[in-house]
Amino acid sequence: MVGIDIGSKSIKIVELVGSVGKFQLKSSGAVGYTGLSPDKMTEEKDFVALSLILKKIIKQIGITSKEVNIALPEPLVFTRVIKFPLLSDEEVNSAIKWEAEQYIPIPINEAIIQYSILSKNETTASTSVLLVAAPKVVVEKYVKIVRLAGLTPVSAETELTALARSISPEKGVSLLLDLGASSVDMAITRDSKVIFTRSIPVAGETFTRAVSQSLGINMQQAEEYKKTYGLSGTQLEGKVKIALEPIFKMVTDEIKKAIHFFQSEEKEEAPTTIIISGGSSLTPELVSYLTEVLGLETVSGNPFNKVAVDPETSKSLAPYISIYGTAVGLAMLEG
Ligand SMILES: Nc1ncnc2c1ncn2[C@@H]1O[C@H](COP(=O)(O)OP(=O)(O)OP(=O)(O)O)[C@@H](O)[C@H]1O
Ligand SMILES: [Mg+2]
Repeated sequence: MVGIDIGSKSIKIVELVGSVGKFQLKSSGAVGYTGLSPDKMTEEKDFVALSLILKKIIKQIGITSKEVNIALPEPLVFTRVIKFPLLSDEEVNSAIKWEAEQYIPIPINEAIIQYSILSKNETTASTSVLLVAAPKVVVEKYVKIVRLAGLTPVSAETELTALARSISPEKGVSLLLDLGASSVDMAITRDSKVIFTRSIPVAGETFTRAVSQSLGINMQQAEEYKKTYGLSGTQLEGKVKIALEPIFKMVTDEIKKAIHFFQSEEKEEAPTTIIISGGSSLTPELVSYLTEVLGLETVSGNPFNKVAVDPETSKSLAPYISIYGTAVGLAMLEG
């Protein structure tokens, strides 16, 4: 299958062959773009321009399948776990149909709704259902770009759902962080299933802007400084770290609040590990920074963990694997 993750700054594509347990990487590639992200587009020429970029990379990396799975931008999608009494699958289906409206912030006829049954508990006589609702207009925009590129979208899911498939540990409660260009998206997973999400509208672009303003350098230079020095306290006298820290603190404060909310409202266990992903997860010293500030063991996720990759490709991909988490998860979804 092919997974296409159109982020706000770059497109990531992964094609896998095989099936669960025997996935093999066929091709992968990423390309940055400037201009509006699909969700903000209204004009035909913008859709066409991005579809041409997509078309070009597809050809370049030799993607053969026309059928693709796409990701929906986490900040625009609503995800929530709802508890029902102990119900049969059919009863859950009708309960969602009749009651979804009261749980989601978008009018039901303007939303695309998906759900999955997380668990049924005989002792508490309850059924947990994960409800996902995406505005139709948003989904249509992503579908449009993919179609204009000559591809057929066969399924769409949220970035974090896909990411959980590629990087979440099989067992236990974990915190996944996708640190991108415009948002940090967090998911709490239990036994690799998403049970809680939150989007924080601050990420790579804000980090670069902070470095640019604090050090009085242009955005391009600031981007380089951020990537080279990151949160290192020693390099460049820690100047970049000093610029970045207030923004990272905003992010970690939100994460702490979200974990607290998750534990107290949902009466759930706290996550025991953090797995980071996304371009901004490559920030130097971020792993040790998060470990210290959040007090949880933090590791960089490897989305190719469950995928066979030939040694040469593996070597050339190594510095960039972090950006492919969502695309790999999408490609693992069988059509
Ligand atoms: N080595 C690095 N150190 C720090 N930041 C980095 C590094 N490499 C890339 N980035 C940052 O990662 C961001 C891009 O990440 P990514 O490709 O995950 O974003 P995106 O998916 O397009 O965005 P979003 O998911 O927020 O819409 C940019 O802001 C870039 O500055
Ligand atoms: Mg992204």
